[in-house]
Amino acid sequence: MKEKKMMTWILVVFLVTGMNGFSQKNMGKMSMGNTAKAICILYPTQGNNVSGTITFTQTEKGVKVVADIQGLSKGKHGFHIHEFGDCSSADGMTAGGHFNPEGKIHGAPMSMSRHMGDMGNLEADESGKAHLEYIDAVIKLNGMNSIIGKSVIIHKSEDDLKTQPTGNAGARVACGVIGAAK
Ligand code: CU
Ligand code: ZN
Repeated sequence: MKEKKMMTWILVVFLVTGMNGFSQKNMGKMSMGNTAKAICILYPTQGNNVSGTITFTQTEKGVKVVADIQGLSKGKHGFHIHEFGDCSSADGMTAGGHFNPEGKIHGAPMSMSRHMGDMGNLEADESGKAHLEYIDAVIKLNGMNSIIGKSVIIHKSEDDLKTQPTGNAGARVACGVIGAAK
């Protein structure tokens, strides 16, 4: 009888610790993630023709951002990660404000104080194409402040890198949701 009780206890302990390990493993996957690459396909907002692709790839020095965009007017265009992965409204306003999980002020991508979403400007040539590549030291692909599921917005005007909290970059000409890639 005693032996049977003992065995039951061992079984219970075994089950509980086993399940604990299982749920911790899965929680880790869900909240911390292990994403090495993300992608955002941009679609034009109403009345615009701007589209493109942005990839975010983890490197030792930070997240490498590569943007290839077309359909822009010549010149500089504000380029940010916004707080909601919601491009459902015709004007892109459902994407919310700049992604700013650490409560910082708006700034340039290389400045000490900036929103996590502040990627500065893209510069389009005469054909309306823009290509940008840089390593971002602030953007995170994993953890609580991951950019996965947020959005990228391209603006009609230049981000002046100082006006709070938007950079005064004007209307939203393209929007896309950031997803985890293989
Ligand atoms: Cu923006
Ligand atoms: Zn900002």
